[in-house]
Amino acid sequence: MFSWSGNTLAVASRVAENLQADLFRIEPATPYTTDYDEMLQIAQDEQTADTLPALAASVQNWDSYSTIYLGFPTWWGHLPQIVKSFLAEHDCSGKVVHPFNTHAGSGFANCLSDLSAACPKADVREGLSILGDEAKSSAAQVNEWVTTTA
Ligand SMILES: Cc1cc2nc3c(=O)[nH]c(=O)nc-3n(C[C@H](O)[C@H](O)[C@H](O)COP(=O)(O)O)c2cc1C
Repeated sequence: MFSWSGNTLAVASRVAENLQADLFRIEPATPYTTDYDEMLQIAQDEQTADTLPALAASVQNWDSYSTIYLGFPTWWGHLPQIVKSFLAEHDCSGKVVHPFNTHAGSGFANCLSDLSAACPKADVREGLSILGDEAKSSAAQVNEWVTTTA
């Protein structure tokens, strides 16, 4: 899961708690700014240049996981580039991937096609997309979705 301002983290925490699953936080090796306007610009520049920022850490024992729940915010209508970095370094071929997302109105936008392009051999299932403002009050919705994925 990647979360810059905490909304996706709130959903991810609920998912992990529900499934008693391990929670891994995708983070860039060089921390992002905490300034919103700067973040908008950096994210746009990364997308334009198709930069894959270095990750702070990798998942231990990645091969032992057959199913993952991948959470991310929509950034400029797309998957954040740091999530693409993660997918480049963690092969999802043959794994079941349940995507979930928070956003400010765009929903998944192009995120799911980005995801399929980044891991074409994964079994990507139907995702859950939640308004960021509702992330912290979405427990019932998240739990219901998790139940449908189990
Ligand atoms: C760099 C950046 C770009 C964003 N682009 C979009 C967008 O294209 N569409 C949208 O609905 N929300 C957009 N947002 C809003 C976030 O998707 C939304 O606030 C989300 O819940 C943030 O999740 P987080 O708290 O886990 O980082 C953007 C936010 C940032 C910081």
